[in-house]
Amino acid sequence: MKYLQAAQLLLAVLAPVRAAFTWQNVKIGGGGGFVPGIVFHPKTKGVAYARTDIGGLYRLNADDSWTAVTDSIATDSGWNKWGIDAVALDPNDANKVYAAVGMYTNSWDPNNGAIIRSPDKGATWSTTTLSFKVGGNMPGRGMGERLAVDPQNSKILYFGARSGNGLWKSTDSGATWTKVSSFTATGTYIPDASDSNGYNSDKIGLTWVTFDSTSGLVNGATSRIFVGTADNTTASVYVTNDAGATWAPVAGQPVKYFPHKGKLQPAQKCLYITYADGAGPYDGTLGAVYQYNITAGTWTDITPVSGSDLYFGFGGLGVDMLKPGTLVVASLNSWWPDAQLFRSTDSGATWSKIWEWANYPAQNLYYTISTSKAPWIDPFINADTKHLGWMIEALEIDPFDSNHWLYGTGLTLFGGHDLTNWDAKKNVTIQVLADGIEEMSVQELRSAPSGTELLVAVGDDNGFTFKSADSLNTAPSTYWQNPTYASSSSVDYAGNKPANVVRVGNDASGSVQQIGVSTDGGATWNIDYAAPATGGPYGGQVAYCADGDTVIWSSSAGGVLRSQFQSTFTAVSSLPSGAVIAADKRSNAYIYGASGGSFYVSKDTGATFAKAGTLGAATSVRDIAAHPTTAGEVWVSTDIGIFRSTDSGATFTQATSEITDVQQIALGLGSGTNWVVYAFGTGPAGNKLYASSDLGATWTDIQGSQGFGAISSCKLAGSANKAGQVYVGTNGRGVFYASGVVAGGSGSSITSKALSSTTSKATSTVSSVKTTSSASSVGTTSKTLSTSTKPASTSKTSTAPTTTNTAVAKHYEQCGGIGFTGPATCVSPYTCQKQNDYYSQCL
Ligand SMILES: *[C@@H]1O[C@H](CO)[C@@H](O)[C@H](O)[C@H]1NC(C)=O
Ligand SMILES: *[C@@H]1O[C@H](CO)[C@@H](O)[C@H](O)[C@H]1NC(C)=O
Ligand SMILES: *[C@@H]1O[C@H](CO)[C@@H](O)[C@H](O)[C@H]1NC(C)=O
Repeated sequence: MKYLQAAQLLLAVLAPVRAAFTWQNVKIGGGGGFVPGIVFHPKTKGVAYARTDIGGLYRLNADDSWTAVTDSIATDSGWNKWGIDAVALDPNDANKVYAAVGMYTNSWDPNNGAIIRSPDKGATWSTTTLSFKVGGNMPGRGMGERLAVDPQNSKILYFGARSGNGLWKSTDSGATWTKVSSFTATGTYIPDASDSNGYNSDKIGLTWVTFDSTSGLVNGATSRIFVGTADNTTASVYVTNDAGATWAPVAGQPVKYFPHKGKLQPAQKCLYITYADGAGPYDGTLGAVYQYNITAGTWTDITPVSGSDLYFGFGGLGVDMLKPGTLVVASLNSWWPDAQLFRSTDSGATWSKIWEWANYPAQNLYYTISTSKAPWIDPFINADTKHLGWMIEALEIDPFDSNHWLYGTGLTLFGGHDLTNWDAKKNVTIQVLADGIEEMSVQELRSAPSGTELLVAVGDDNGFTFKSADSLNTAPSTYWQNPTYASSSSVDYAGNKPANVVRVGNDASGSVQQIGVSTDGGATWNIDYAAPATGGPYGGQVAYCADGDTVIWSSSAGGVLRSQFQSTFTAVSSLPSGAVIAADKRSNAYIYGASGGSFYVSKDTGATFAKAGTLGAATSVRDIAAHPTTAGEVWVSTDIGIFRSTDSGATFTQATSEITDVQQIALGLGSGTNWVVYAFGTGPAGNKLYASSDLGATWTDIQGSQGFGAISSCKLAGSANKAGQVYVGTNGRGVFYASGVVAGGSGSSITSKALSSTTSKATSTVSSVKTTSSASSVGTTSKTLSTSTKPASTSKTSTAPTTTNTAVAKHYEQCGGIGFTGPATCVSPYTCQKQNDYYSQCL
């Protein structure tokens, strides 16, 4: 008995600790990107899905929240499966869901597309790879749905392809597919034939497939099917009446615009179609709405507005299945003053608007909008006049509840539960209903020891601050404002003074200086007026010296720059343009850099760099992680493995060659003496996230079955404050975190305390694409505009004062700091606010 107990105890001590990492999202909340499609199940209440362009598919829950269902298939090689170009439900089996997946039809995506199918609401998937590409993040991705299941025969599906690939059919519930040779239209519209990267020069193709569930059967299949195509020269809507044996353009159709949505109202035997003169999602200056009466074979123009009131196309189309003749349609893009939504209860004979001009420019709003589930959206949509959204392609009325509706925008997903209040009360309650949809394209992550737990730089929505580990499940109340950039590419904190944070904007045409600084850990910010203004450098990576007195900026295309005490940025010629950089987190003078396979060190706060220790035969340094609390300890990820230096980069030893082709690397607080090293790379379990708690001697796969998309676009931070916690930023599925204990590492050599740092090098093709092709770039454009209407002025950097002591400093001028001899008072109403020991500013 005693022996047994001892043996058990021994076992408990020696058994390898299995790293059990369960991943969940950090809650930014509210989507943060384009939601191009929503589908409700026609026969089972409460079943609905929303698709995104780069962040996968989500299933609706009863409490209005959403659950991601395609994470397991978005592995490193399967990253393109987060591009969902269409979703379809089986009308006769509410558990079955299908999607057409693939992200780009041009060279950015090397993989062909696929049809995925799930028998259990997305819990598990089977995949059939197609012989061509699918473009979930291509132009026209809000048209649809391109994929549909025969409502009278669950084995039959149709898929309308892009790129001239035509119409495809499956007769075995999506397992195999063959081209429909009798369907010859291909949807020939090309947005911009001259686009050399292929993004806008591909054929948009077929746009939707709609079965007429009221039509009879031919050989066990629904006989009448409509197909929309992107064609404004011959015909765009085709029909078969013999279950696909023969097809013809529907007679009498309008040919001017592209059909975005084609929806059947079965009780009326009518097809409703929204049209726009662009493929979407950003365009559209004209359009129309039509009703096609299938019984009579007649087309009726039911466009809600005309003349000068018609300056947009139409996208979203909600058809109320419980009230035949009740419809809601949306402007695809009405950039000013706001989107417009129209509702009809008489099949489009008359319409009412969700807002109208009162005494111009005043508006009468027949809605209220609230953002309680994603508070940061409130300042975002109040930054200009657009509250209702843009890029409205998806708009659905719950087939079982005329009050419940949802619509997707370039920013989020809105909806509500009192839609019928539109009619009598003229007051609809709209809310952000994207809870659970985490769509951010993450550009960099940082966790500061004894400082901010998580700083998240993102594309399209600038960035977010999570003060402590307890705040990770609370959607932030604001995005990073003042300065507001459409996108941020990098963020860093000062190791010895972690309340000091710096970030860089990624607006090529930004009209505001592209560096922002914070002295309260990223809660509030100020523009760094030392940075070049309009037309200057932007993007890239930023590093803050340990004492927070020097900013080093490896910009996207403008070389490496440096600013001390917020004085003018000057070029650093001794470090190659585009270098990866990191600041030592304890030694203020030391800055690290790398370019190609060469490692550089600066011992003078980045003024000059010189080549330092060699990294074996490495030809590409991907990332540098300075130890969060130990001066001189640096970890470097390369194409051939991971290297470590404990002498500030003078010499390196290879920590491992077990993980190769290493991408981002980060250190996080461990539960033992060592900091845990996290790295994305190729290891024994494939291309995944690995962790080591013994300084790189042994590695554990901590990713498990969680998909993060392409590991080359993943960002990484170890928690500096919570032992064993690690953060992963994805390109389109937000930030994940997990914690656990990684085996190994007892009694190792290094002791430390406190935080992580990585340097990122973003800019994989994948992530660079996102900000141009998805989401809210447009909305943020407008935000940037409104920001720029603020001072931009002549203001001031921290360069020596031109005024004397008796003067007062003007708005934005320096008013204090070590060595500063100028005026310490500010002109009213501004006050002198300390930015750091060396710089105070009138704000
Ligand atoms: C088709 O639409 C495109 C984009 O709006 C437009 O440039 C072109 O002139 C249209 N073609 C015809 C024949 O109307
Ligand atoms: C469609 O046309 C038929 C035949 O003319 C007519 O009886 C029916 O009322 C029309 N439906 C609608 C919704 O107008
Ligand atoms: C609309 O309803 C909301 C919430 O029910 C209310 O706060 C608001 O005052 C109403 N607006 C109008 C114009 O009646």
